[in-house]
Amino acid sequence: MTQPSRPIRAFTRRALAAGTALLVLSGAALAQAPIVIKFSHVVAPDTPKGRGADKFKELAEKYTNGKVKVEVYPNSQLFKDKEEVEALQLGAVQMLAPSLAKFGPLGAKEFEVFDLPYILPDKAALRRVTDGALGKRLFDKLETKGIIGLAYWDNGFKEMSANKPLRMPADFRGLKMRIQSSKVLEAQFRALGAIPQVMAFSEVYQGMQTGVVDGSENTPSNMFTQKHHEVQKYITLSDHGYIGYAVITNKKFWDGLPSDVRTELDKAMKEATVYANQVADKDNADALDEMKKSGKTTFITLTQEEKAAWKAALEPVTAEMAKRVGKDVIEEFQKEAKGGTQ
Ligand code: LMR
Repeated sequence: MTQPSRPIRAFTRRALAAGTALLVLSGAALAQAPIVIKFSHVVAPDTPKGRGADKFKELAEKYTNGKVKVEVYPNSQLFKDKEEVEALQLGAVQMLAPSLAKFGPLGAKEFEVFDLPYILPDKAALRRVTDGALGKRLFDKLETKGIIGLAYWDNGFKEMSANKPLRMPADFRGLKMRIQSSKVLEAQFRALGAIPQVMAFSEVYQGMQTGVVDGSENTPSNMFTQKHHEVQKYITLSDHGYIGYAVITNKKFWDGLPSDVRTELDKAMKEATVYANQVADKDNADALDEMKKSGKTTFITLTQEEKAAWKAALEPVTAEMAKRVGKDVIEEFQKEAKGGTQ
């Protein structure tokens, strides 16, 4: 092999030295570059989920000493309902907390058990289910889809809204009601004689304002922060169903994290979960108060007879949906909700 001439040898040495310096530099820079977690969600920051996400950011960054940077994108800023799940699967975002009613399109339709009308008597029953065997089983199901369930976060019980008073099931007849992408919710509104329409959360206000939909169901906190009460004349305090979330991450991303980082993130998530679940009831109670104070909508409290009529109209939904959600899943849910005694 012929040797390169002296000037070329000198140039090569300099280039190599510069290259090495660059490599060292980028190695050092890389070592310091934080791991970025993009946490995308569709609700306002001042909601149970919004506060939970912000708390997780604060704790994750603190416990990892800045090795992790969490960027929270609220209000569908980055992605709407359906897109955010696709984005998580593609790795464009690393964390989401979709409502449990939005897991059907992921192939995890068992999550829709939470949407069955009147399946949850109270929050204590909810906690028994999410902290129990079924909560774990549902997360195991997600893993087969390349997704890890990190925690269940609370929102609250749903109320109905429309531009006409909804007192009896017959009042729903022919109304176009916005729903989340859950077949159980579709069946629920069909049982009431309404026309369910799937719509992204970020589009609901406008849908109500322009009359694309006549009404919807949601928690007080979601209604208030999205100003639904300004475009709906009536809200019926029905508490007929529940909205809660599963915080999820991409399995490949999570498994690829350094184990010490993952441990700290687990700790941050545990504490953020306690916090999110603690603030949920108050957020909903405050939102209800604010909407009442605004005087922009009329609240309806159901009588015992009216409540009974809603329950009777919605009762067939559970049997009808057993095939989709799983009879065993529904039975396990009901057993755990009751405290596992029967
Ligand atoms: C909805 O679409 O109504 C809710 O799932 C929004 C949310 O994330 O609470």
